[in-house]
Amino acid sequence: MDDLSQKPIGAATRFCAVYGQPIRHSGSPAMHNAALAKLGLDWRYLAFEVSPDALGQAIEGARAMHFVGLNLTVPHKLFAVELVDALDESATTWGAVNTISFEAKNDSGDWTPLGQLPVPATGEIRAKGHNTDADAITLALQQDLGLSLAGQRVLLLGAGGAGRVAALKLAAEGVAELHLVNRTVAKAEQLAGEIAERFPQTKATVGYPENVTDKVDLVLNATSLGLKTDDALPLDESQFSLANAAAVFDMIYQPALTPLLAKAAEAGCRTTNGLGMLLWQGAKALEIWTGQPAPIDVMRTALESHIYGDE
Ligand code: ATR
Repeated sequence: MDDLSQKPIGAATRFCAVYGQPIRHSGSPAMHNAALAKLGLDWRYLAFEVSPDALGQAIEGARAMHFVGLNLTVPHKLFAVELVDALDESATTWGAVNTISFEAKNDSGDWTPLGQLPVPATGEIRAKGHNTDADAITLALQQDLGLSLAGQRVLLLGAGGAGRVAALKLAAEGVAELHLVNRTVAKAEQLAGEIAERFPQTKATVGYPENVTDKVDLVLNATSLGLKTDDALPLDESQFSLANAAAVFDMIYQPALTPLLAKAAEAGCRTTNGLGMLLWQGAKALEIWTGQPAPIDVMRTALESHIYGDE
């Protein structure tokens, strides 16, 4: 990895940060600080444990101190929609904010990210909310599994926060069939209804594909099953056989090999875990703040070594 010593932190160093609760496990500082060093920026990326009732104050503090931007993780992504001054189209479309860029007006009077303006910023500063999670799902599927989604058949496991964004994004990308499976069936039904309204070209149904022999192009796990070693599979194998799936994506990245991914690999599916999604949402955020292409390889290496160590 590149030498992170770059320049010592000084009075001209600029900051960005991630807020979450809990936050101590986060790989984002390792990933972003490696990228900032690679780009030669005198910036640092920090992590703060922030409770939901202090989120508004924490955002205000970052604005007052001219932070370049913020990432928000569990449990802040929905609350933040109400706390920012402006929403990018991505945040409006997906109803959640995982990235804030602080902006001021440039010489022409256009709102511009602070990271792309000379310092010190003058005049009013606004907090603009973005969502880079949804794009990260499709980027990870393209980059790690070689999937392009238009016209594909997908079995999606989970209809919580992550499952909902995944389902809507897949529908927006023109998936032909979405089979929605969730422990709480009512949530899958509600999601199918939302897709029928917003993306009618996608046929969203609740439950496994009708025939056990029906094939799908992708199984996507957006449940939390697999995080713990004694978790059940998120998939009912009496209703669907992994032999009928071409590819399997598990949003979980720790452990790297969930029982679902192990079974899928045995069944001959192409597989990938959620690390790529974490990487791409971070890369997109960095690009919003800096206006420069993110150094993906450096970020991936830093993330892998932070999360998996040197094994
Ligand atoms: P996230 O924001 O990560 O999606 P979430 O909204 O709490 O978190 O969603 C967790 C998902 O995992 C849901 O689909 C949840 O199913 P329910 O909607 O029925 O709660 C699923 N999940 C969690 N524990 C589960 C379990 N023991 N068995 C089956 N599904 C489970």
